[in-house]
Amino acid sequence: MIEIIRTLNQFETFRNNLRPGTIGFVPTMGNLHKGHLSLVKESLRQNDNTIVSIFVNPKQFGPNEDFEKYPRTLGEDNKKLKDLYRDEEFRGRLLTIFAPEVPEEIFPSNFSTKITVGDLTNKLCGINRPGHFDGVTTVVYRLFSIVKPHKAYFGQKDYQQYLVCKKMIEDLRLNIQLVPMPTKRDEDGLAMSSRNQYLTGTDRELALVLPQTLEKLKETIKSNFWPESYGLALELAGESKKEGDWDYLEILDAKTLREPSERTHTVILAGALKLGHTRLIDNKLVEIRYAR
Ligand code: PAJ
Repeated sequence: MIEIIRTLNQFETFRNNLRPGTIGFVPTMGNLHKGHLSLVKESLRQNDNTIVSIFVNPKQFGPNEDFEKYPRTLGEDNKKLKDLYRDEEFRGRLLTIFAPEVPEEIFPSNFSTKITVGDLTNKLCGINRPGHFDGVTTVVYRLFSIVKPHKAYFGQKDYQQYLVCKKMIEDLRLNIQLVPMPTKRDEDGLAMSSRNQYLTGTDRELALVLPQTLEKLKETIKSNFWPESYGLALELAGESKKEGDWDYLEILDAKTLREPSERTHTVILAGALKLGHTRLIDNKLVEIRYAR
């Protein structure tokens, strides 16, 4: 049985009485797919107790974004978690869902604090989604302070989000270990996302341009020495951007999200592609090679 807790009060009581052992935390906005479930599995493997939060956080959506229509599917999410939890491998582990019934459980009407991480949030998704990362770090901090986990599991599909939350943990010395998890993809290469279901008809096919372009850039960088590979990849990115409605397609240092420098070891190839009203993001990490 998985307990679903729907109020902050009940969760705090549960947390105060939680049996000893490590606590792994998987924050989500629900509508769970195999990407989310891979994080839950890893937490169950590594911890005595796992807590999955399901909370569509109003603070991270812009005024013209999809907060209202974001899919809320608690019944199905619960079933998916139950099916996964049944596995013999997780015997003796405790899995609990924290799904606040209303946003006010997390953000009461007089809530007035905002957590802002600088620098890393000024690029990529931070440019066209002003305030988005403040919303993310504010809710993640809030959830950390409620759940008090030892480890938290984040997907690399949202790589900038992972880096920003990691920086917040470092700056505030929160003593929580972030565990980055690889991106789960559909068979044709599209990164799994709750937003994929907005794609209708031919848009689902057109969406493949995103992973395919990133893959071509990756091959270009892997099969040439730096910095020639960088020049070739920039050229290819410039060409690729002419086809499709890109928010961005960039090659950046994977640690700083700045332009690659002589200290760069790994670059991130990051893209955001718009298809109708849907905006998809994806990325790949590539180690660069220098000629000896
Ligand atoms: P959500 O989009 O529901 O994602 C929850 C977690 O699942 C994130 O860490 C995300 O990176 C990871 N994830 C999503 N798609 C994935 C995929 N295809 N493969 C692997 N992991 C994947 O990200 C959020 O929610 C929110 O911003 C949140 C952190 C919960 C704060 O509100």
